[in-house]
Amino acid sequence: MSAHKNLLISRDAIAARVKELAVQISRDYADKNPLLIGILKGGFIFLADLARALDFPVQVDFVRLRSYGAGTKTSGEVHISKDVELPVKDRHVLVVEDIVDAGLTLDFLLGHLASYQPASLKICCLIDKKERRQVEVPIDYVGFPVEKGFLVGYGLDSGEKFRTLPDIYEIVE
Ligand code: IMP
Ligand code: MG
Repeated sequence: MSAHKNLLISRDAIAARVKELAVQISRDYADKNPLLIGILKGGFIFLADLARALDFPVQVDFVRLRSYGAGTKTSGEVHISKDVELPVKDRHVLVVEDIVDAGLTLDFLLGHLASYQPASLKICCLIDKKERRQVEVPIDYVGFPVEKGFLVGYGLDSGEKFRTLPDIYEIVE
């Protein structure tokens, strides 16, 4: 069995969409000094591009969550291995995620962050992958809706491979 990958979303399409998201987010947050919380590791490239497309003050922090092993199936369990470090209470928090699949990761994180009593809590994800959704999560800003598939590149990995590719590919078995 040999896996190959098909180009799904080009770097140009990503860049254009990130700009559009930044316009939307600017309208909602320009006077709110929001706290952007990126989810490691997959979200680091998207967060870096999105944050630099926002031309108003923001702060950045990260959490590290794990829901997958080396394979491509979710284990159903979410662990937090690095929490936020900046205070969240009374802040306008925007969670920046690479991809929502089953929704378990974000569902867990939303509950966790809500316990810190932010002023508001919203989600921006680059890819909303709907096929395996198990928990409904409210996503406020979506880059690209995708029905299914396992995607790599632009932060997304498969067993730590392909994370730094500038474009997004679908793995085809
Ligand atoms: P879930 O929404 O709890 O299933 O998990 C979402 C997390 O699983 C994402 O933050 C990614 O880290 C990872 N993930 C889900 N789908 C993919 C994919 O297609 N490629 C790479 N990672 C994925
Ligand atoms: Mg992720």
